[in-house]
Order: sequence, then structure tokens, then C-alpha cells
Amino acid sequence: MSILLEKIEKRRTFAIISHPDAGKTTLTEKLLLYGGAIHLAGSVKARKSNKHAVSDWMEIEKQRGISVTSSVLQFDYDGYRVNILDTPGHQDFSEDTYRTLMAADSAVMLIDAAKGIEPQTKKLFWVCHRRHLPVFTFVNKLDRYGRNPLDLMEEIETVLGIKAYPVNWPIGIDGKYKGVYNRMTGKIELFEEDGTHGSQQLKSTTGDLNDPKILELLGEELYEHLCNDIELLDLAGEEFDLEKVNNGTLTPMFFGSAMTNFGVESFLEKFLELSPCPQPRLLHNGEHIQPENEAFSAFVFKIQANMNPAHRDRITFMRICSGVFDKGMSVYHLQGKKQVKLAQPQQFMAQERTIVEEAYPGDIIGVFDPGIFGIGDSLSDDKLKLQFEDFPVFPPEIFARVQPKDSLKRKQFVKGMTQLAQEGAIQVFEQKNTGLESFIVGVVGQLQLEVLEYRLLNEYSAQLLMNQLPYSVARWVYSKDNKPVTEVKGLDNGILAYDRKDRPVILINNEWALNWISERNPDLSFLTVPSDAAKI
Ligand code: G4P
Repeated sequence: MSILLEKIEKRRTFAIISHPDAGKTTLTEKLLLYGGAIHLAGSVKARKSNKHAVSDWMEIEKQRGISVTSSVLQFDYDGYRVNILDTPGHQDFSEDTYRTLMAADSAVMLIDAAKGIEPQTKKLFWVCHRRHLPVFTFVNKLDRYGRNPLDLMEEIETVLGIKAYPVNWPIGIDGKYKGVYNRMTGKIELFEEDGTHGSQQLKSTTGDLNDPKILELLGEELYEHLCNDIELLDLAGEEFDLEKVNNGTLTPMFFGSAMTNFGVESFLEKFLELSPCPQPRLLHNGEHIQPENEAFSAFVFKIQANMNPAHRDRITFMRICSGVFDKGMSVYHLQGKKQVKLAQPQQFMAQERTIVEEAYPGDIIGVFDPGIFGIGDSLSDDKLKLQFEDFPVFPPEIFARVQPKDSLKRKQFVKGMTQLAQEGAIQVFEQKNTGLESFIVGVVGQLQLEVLEYRLLNEYSAQLLMNQLPYSVARWVYSKDNKPVTEVKGLDNGILAYDRKDRPVILINNEWALNWISERNPDLSFLTVPSDAAKI
């Protein structure tokens, strides 16, 4: 086998999706713990505050060294190179999460055992499903009272419409659990409370179902209960089928507790065994690029400015799709139409950034970006000049007019707005010939406006004046005969503005207004996203 193929087969790149509070941060920390990337799982105590204030939210990121906004963490485990794409749980940042999922080969869906499928879980699941991503389910918080596991299984099947195959099964009655039984290995893992709040790798007792020691430890009632459950699952449940897992129609299901580390390591091991290695990637022309193609290719899925406040740098994250990345190599940047040198390539191991010497398909590298890259951009070997599939765009629903409070800070303000728009944190529109010095900002979630205010002040020293606008619908305007759009009739309660690429967009109150306007402009079409972007 070629070295490239060997490297590909040992790589796993996945995202964890969940409703806020299900335990995603905790699980991520614990996976890093098992991977040896951190010795003590991060300061769990600091967490409470991140739910309240945006400022805390940014500060917390620094304190804990693990990014709350989506970034990537890497560790090695048992010969595997694991890339976890971290995603923010709050729904106001779902745009970021959706883009991150573009870079994943599979997803781990985390569910709170007491709550089951929550709204955000459902939304994110659908994105994975539409992309045919294999989804692995981890039912968390098994250390405390939870719902009946059969109910949870049924909920997955009825609410999400996919079959579940429990790889392990909780041992216990009425939501009080003592351990799990692994249906694939026949081994039992019993939970041992160590009182350390999960800061150490957990000790557990393992044994066969037939082992007399296990019967003794469980007692007859629990033992019987478990045997009945397993019999029921074997008889009435779905059979394990890796092909169905790979096409996203069957989810392997695991039970455990991230906080106490219970079931985390056995989950990690099975997940690495069953989850797919880096997969072929879809191109704009409908073809695929195979990871083992020797020529390098990658796409940009995230840009983050000021990750290191001391340097005020801008890092562009790209997923490698084929070939080998060598430090200092030059590649063709399709959107910029030229060769670029990927400067200061970095990878992220927990708190540390390391300079990358070499990277392979599935790996995520961050490169220093002088402001030339955009989300969804394609980079590849000069011979390939590939273009990857379009990145999905969210139509903004909340709009505000913003300007700097102090007009002397206008330069910083414009810089900040431009950079945050390039990052994809906000969409920016301008009205022409109004004499106004303001921008219009469009976002999907209210919290994005708070983050905008916070970041402009903290990263660009520009205080904002912000007025929310009464619009909730944006439509990109195209002329059916390809003439420039100069006028939109009937736009009495809306405005005509221009996006960053100078494309005309109308901002209006509601869908009803859109019907009114469409009727008055038969020569124009109104699209939810620009014509070169895919809609979520
Ligand atoms: P998120 O990133 O998905 O939003 O969730 P996060 O890990 O922040 O966890 C949310 C809360 O759930 C935290 O409690 C965390 O400790 C708790 N949690 C995570 N995993 C488990 C688990 O396996 N069992 C139990 N019982 N709790 C779990 P918190 O009260 O918000 O914070 P803290 O005071 O515990 O730090």
C-alpha cells in the first residue's frame, strides 16, 4: 500500500453535533484526554459563565484553550490521527456549524439521556443527513437519571427517520445505571465512581455476560433485566450493517457519561474502527476528487481573525482533500486566479499550535491569510485547478444599520466590518448614493450582532451605533435578460442595497411584500441566496 493510502486509512475527521448543554465541550475534552493531548480535562468549573455573556464567551475560549467557536483539534490515538471539528452549539451560530460540517467525513450526535432529541439536534442532524454523512449517536449523562433507552431508540427512529443499532446497552432499571453491555464484543463495563468529576481516566470492571463475577456484581434482578433487554434487541432490533452506517441510514448508538468518562474510551475505540476515513469530495462539475490522488487539493471552510490577540493575525482553515501538503508549498488559488504560498501552516493540538511539516487528506491546516481567501475557496495543484462544490449560504433574517460612534474611528470600523464579513461572521450590505456613512449588517441569529459589537470594540477599538431595521427578508435581484438592475418597482417599504460583491439585494419586511414586488417587476427574479451559492 502506498504511504499516502496508509495515511488516509488512519485518519478520521468528524464533527460533534448537539443541542447546547448536551455535553459537547465535555466530551471533546474527554476525547482529548484519552488521546493524551491534555492531561487534566479542561477547567470544567469555568463553564457556567459562558452561557450568559458574550464577553465571557470570548474570554472563556482563551481561558480554556479550546475554542468555543468552531475550530479544530487534533490528537493521536492507537495509530489513528483524529481531527475533531469543534462547532458552537448555540443556534445563532449555526451558519458556522453548517460550514464546518462540509469539512467532516462523519458526525457524532450527542444526546442528553434525560432530554432525548432537542430542536438543535434535529436541525443539525438534517444537514448531516442531506449530505449523507454517517452519524454516530452518543447518549450522554448516563451517570444520572435518564429516559428509558428503548424510548430513546424509538425517538431516533421516529423523529429523525433513521434506524439505530445500539452498540452498547445500559445496565440498570428506570434510568439508574451501573454500566454498559457491549453487544459487539459481549463485554460488560461497570461504572466505578472515583469522585474526581471525571478528571482522570476511569477505572472499570470488564467481563463477559457469562462470567460469574459479573452476575455477582450485578445481582440477579439487574442481570435478568439485562439478559431480557439484549434478547429483545437481538430479536426485534436492526442488524448491524456498515454499508447502511456509511450511507447515513443506520446510526450506531452508544451510551455513556462524558463527565465521569464512563463509556468514553470504548466509544472512541469503536467509533475509530467503524467510522469512515477521508472520503472523495464533490467538485463543482459534479465529479469527485479521490483522496489518494497524488495532486494536492483543499478547500477553505473557516476564516478566523485575531485568534491570537497579540498578533492580530488572520487564520484560514482548510481541509485537505487529496495529495500531500508540504510546508512551504505553493498552490493554485482558483478564486484569486493565481499561485499562492501557504504561509505558516499550523495545526492545533489542544492548547498548542504547531507548525505543520506535512499533512494528508482529512487533515485541517490553518494558514496565515493576508486577506485573500474567502469561505468555500478552492486550492489545488497547478495541474488540477479544481473547483469544489458551492458552499451553502444562509439567507440573513435580522438586519441592523451600524456606524462607528466616533467618526474618527471610521478606518478601524471599516476594517473590522470587512474582515468579519470575510470570515463569514456577518453579511454586509451598502446603500448607494444616500450620503450615509453606515453599513447594513445581515445575520441569522441575534447573538451574532452582540458578537459583532463585542469584537469591533475589542479587536478594532471601534464602538458601534446600531439600529435594528424592520426587515426580515433579503432577496438577491437578477434581471431575466441579464441587464444591470437599476430599479425595483414597488419597493415602498424596503430598500435596495448591494452586497460585498456589489450584487443588488432588496431588504423587505416579509414574504407578502415579496409577492407584491414580484408582480410589479416581471423582468426580475428574486433569489434567497446569490445565484452562485447553494441554499441550506
Ligand atoms: P455543551 O458544550 O454541549 O453546551 O455542554 P457542556 O459540555 O458545557 O456541558 C453542559 C453541562 O452538562 C455541564 O454542566 C456539564 O458538566 C454537564 N455534563 C456534561 N456531561 C455530563 C455527564 O456525562 N453527566 C452529567 N451529570 N453532567 C454532564 P454545568 O452545570 O453547566 O457546568 P459544570 O458546573 O458542571 O461545569
